[in-house]
Amino acid sequence: YSLKNLNTFGIDVVARQFASFKNVAELQELLNNPEIDKNNLLVLGGGSNVLFTQNYDGTVLQNLIGGIHIISETDEDALVEAGGGVSWHDLVLFSIDKNLGGLENLSLIPGTVGAAPLQNIGAYGVELKDVFQSLEAVEISTGAVTTFDAEKCGFGYRESIFKRELKGKYIVTHVTLQLSKKPVFNTTYGAIKSTLEAMQVKEITLKALSDAVIAIRQSKLPNPVVIGNAGSFFKNPEISPDQFAALQAQYPNIPSYPAAHGNIKVPAGWLIEQCGWKGKIINNYGVHKDQALVLVNYGGAEGNQIRALAYEIIESVKQKFNITLHPEVNII
Ligand code: EPU
Repeated sequence: YSLKNLNTFGIDVVARQFASFKNVAELQELLNNPEIDKNNLLVLGGGSNVLFTQNYDGTVLQNLIGGIHIISETDEDALVEAGGGVSWHDLVLFSIDKNLGGLENLSLIPGTVGAAPLQNIGAYGVELKDVFQSLEAVEISTGAVTTFDAEKCGFGYRESIFKRELKGKYIVTHVTLQLSKKPVFNTTYGAIKSTLEAMQVKEITLKALSDAVIAIRQSKLPNPVVIGNAGSFFKNPEISPDQFAALQAQYPNIPSYPAAHGNIKVPAGWLIEQCGWKGKIINNYGVHKDQALVLVNYGGAEGNQIRALAYEIIESVKQKFNITLHPEVNII
């Protein structure tokens, strides 16, 4: 079964077996089916955070659980539940249409609702965990349905328990978010302010903020429908204040953000650009010209070529800055 159209990198690989499910009962039935290889199971959402380096010798499951519902509301906020197969941006558009705040900065992120908690998606000063209420997941080994609150999810920067202790053990079927009827607009991110000004927005609304985020993303990030990519390939590294001070002495223009535990986050895109990679093209793949954090497949590249490029980049950043980058993309 070809996975080419099921991963945004557009890598041409096949899976030994493929199935999809539209609700929890269908998923449980699949998990009961002895023909399904439960030990080699891969759930694909939008396929926007994976790099396939070989054919998948197991079962690929596609989550097609749909539906977006307001399940309860108060004067202050609303709980919105969405199926794991819903496109993330469709959920964002629903929230803006209903005038519910919290998702506008997360506009236009590729992928599905079910995949969003796994890596605690984030952009422009907001992370999924800021609006997260709970999720429903099915345990692969038993088919049992469990609810996880935010604490149980163990969210961190592009991290959750589903990437660590519970990796490969659960399938997210529904996600519930707490969205606000009295939105507080987050315009702290520099590019947002300047884009709102350029768009001559007089009064900020959820729609205006979402449109600004969409404009920023479209100006910097390649559209995966046109050029194969999986967004940021690496996480932004966090370093100690001492290491940062030493780097700053050498590179006075080094950008940075405060991170957890007093550490400093440095944009990986800057480090990669300083090493001369930005816009580099190797045959039919390379490093994006507007955002060095994004590796791209111009068509026909193999996953292991892109992985080799990623490891060359890691090596050169290590040599120049003594910082080790870690992939954010799931390399399979
Ligand atoms: N920069 C460069 N050269 C580059 C790219 C970036 O010098 O080629 C420097 C610039 O100083 C720029 C700064 O890095 O001001 C930050 O760049 P940007 O605003 O593009 O954000 P980022 O830190 O590179 C992160 C997320 C993105 C998210 C943006 C906006 C990660 C791994 N990536 O990128 O998320 O959209 O912030 O909030 O944290 C993704 O996860 O797939 C993704 C696109």
